[in-house]
Amino acid sequence: MKGAFITIEGPDGSGKTTLIDHLKTWLTAKKIDVIATREPGGTQLGEVLRKILLDDHDHDHDHGDQHDANTRIRARISDQAELMLMFTARMQHLHEVILPAMAAGRCVLCDRFTDATYAYQGGGRGISERRIQQLEDWVQQGLQPDLTIMLDVPIEVGLQRTKKRGIMRSSGRPGGDRFEQQQLDFKEAVRQAYLRRAEKYPQRIKLIDATRSIGEVQDDLTAQVEAFLTAPRGARQG
Ligand code: TMP
Repeated sequence: MKGAFITIEGPDGSGKTTLIDHLKTWLTAKKIDVIATREPGGTQLGEVLRKILLDDHDHDHDHGDQHDANTRIRARISDQAELMLMFTARMQHLHEVILPAMAAGRCVLCDRFTDATYAYQGGGRGISERRIQQLEDWVQQGLQPDLTIMLDVPIEVGLQRTKKRGIMRSSGRPGGDRFEQQQLDFKEAVRQAYLRRAEKYPQRIKLIDATRSIGEVQDDLTAQVEAFLTAPRGARQG
């Protein structure tokens, strides 16, 4: 039996991490053999690239000098190089983790996938869809997630929530009004690109209003996954 490939997308402050944990527990209780993974990341190479691409290093394990070096590298990465590194991590992830797990009949739960590239590198950085699609076609050879859960929150709500949690990643560093405005414009462009994806692929992408309480969002999420799991196989793609 071929396994299932489920991806989850959503901005900071959408509750994505908590919801993935909940979904993993829910699937396991249903005796579904599930593996949770993430992008960029999921392999040794992917995690190294993640540290270079994102400022979310692990304080307990990372050496300060390495972190500083990564920060310097990150500051010089061009938008096109960033795009290619996302797909480098993805190529390795597919061949080392996702495809073997699916071949073994497992359910792969992936925290972000290629819709994130269309949203961040496409919508956010302004790289053309055509260019992203060229890499997607080559790396994925037609493979698409069977189901994508897209958590949607207006950017103001997401920002309020992350401020409350005290999250200050690269997107939240202080830098005055102009910088903050650029950050807001970027986040809005990312959100709009995600919404365009949901509109374009309504069969695959299920949009969930994540402004509601965590309990309501959890119920909606599991209902969507349940509907997917019980649908006839042939009806799943779209
Ligand atoms: P997260 O795992 O906490 O959601 O952070 C991942 C970050 O990486 C997030 O800012 C989105 C970004 N990202 C891209 O820009 N392009 C991609 O293709 C992927 C998978 C993630």
